[in-house]
Amino acid sequence: MSDTFVQLTDLTLTYGKNIAVPALNLSIREGELIALLGPSGCGKTTTMRAIAGLLAPASGSIHIDGRDVTRLAANKRGIGLVFQSYALFPHLNAFENVAFGLRLQKLPEAEIKSRTEQGMATVGLSGFEGRKPAEMSGGQQQRLALARSLVMRPKVLLLDEPLSNLDARLRLEMRTELQRVQKETGVTMVFVTHDQAEALALADRIVLMQQGKIEQLGTPAQLYAQPETAFAAEFMGFENIFKVAGDSVQNDHGSLPLGYRPDSAILAWRPDGVRVGQGPHQGRVTACSFAGGHREYVIDSALGPVKANADIALPEAQIGDSLSFDLPQATARPLRA
Ligand SMILES: Nc1ncnc2c1ncn2[C@@H]1O[C@H](COP(=O)(O)OP(=O)(O)OP(=O)(O)O)[C@@H](O)[C@H]1O
Ligand SMILES: [Mg+2]
Repeated sequence: MSDTFVQLTDLTLTYGKNIAVPALNLSIREGELIALLGPSGCGKTTTMRAIAGLLAPASGSIHIDGRDVTRLAANKRGIGLVFQSYALFPHLNAFENVAFGLRLQKLPEAEIKSRTEQGMATVGLSGFEGRKPAEMSGGQQQRLALARSLVMRPKVLLLDEPLSNLDARLRLEMRTELQRVQKETGVTMVFVTHDQAEALALADRIVLMQQGKIEQLGTPAQLYAQPETAFAAEFMGFENIFKVAGDSVQNDHGSLPLGYRPDSAILAWRPDGVRVGQGPHQGRVTACSFAGGHREYVIDSALGPVKANADIALPEAQIGDSLSFDLPQATARPLRA
């Protein structure tokens, strides 16, 4: 592992009297793709704006590549920005959009040309040089915005929900593209999303945030399999989360005996971790939907609604039917309070 490349130390970010981010500590390695994940308003954009130099921290420091940039102007930090609205210049063709920043730097024409062509090739847009943004698809415009940032050779590239304007198919395409570009250029990327699937698919490590604080930080595999809190578990698709009391689980609706005694405060199951069609518990089916390889049931039980996926090979239960289920120890994820 390479050393820390971006270091946020006790970074506190405020808007007037409101503290959006209190004392954030985060180390990012060179060449890493970090995803900031979390619900609306948790401080993702605020953190990005501080790294970029668009928001002065109330306290704390930001180091990039060994240098304290806390008080450095945005345009001196070597940071590229790609935002949700990619703000291309509509009157300029693709080439000139990408070349724009290089022209501002007054580089020699030959260098502008070669770097622009190389940047467009990196994002798979060779041949599109003469097109205006309006003559390009959403995904192509997004890639153009990426090329425009990449040609500036930023030390760090910040992407704030860059894919949220794209339809589902283009999002997938761009995800792969972003990963490829990142591996090819080795640029350190911080990527903001509130889509957990996107974070899992793209990131080397995920920073899950809640109310300006890091709830959990880890690889996609760690966050997916080992969320530590109910908040993290919920974000990672554990739809059944219950408090433990002795050998039962309980919530506001009631309680169910487990037949084993967990040693954690909270237990969580994904819908596919709940066994359907057999087991000690009974409930009534209140919703059933076909989802390709499985059926998704909502079972009204002593715990209220339990979400359970059943293999398509099992006999189908209808709404109103009684259905037995189990909350097995093997698929339970222990969480701390
Ligand atoms: N310009 C501003 N003035 C005052 N408060 C702001 C400003 N921008 C953001 N905030 C507040 O700071 C907090 C963090 O906002 P931020 O934009 O960082 O959230 P976010 O995680 O990017 O959310 P989203 O997913 O909706 O983009 C929120 O409570 C928000 O209301
Ligand atoms: Mg935001």
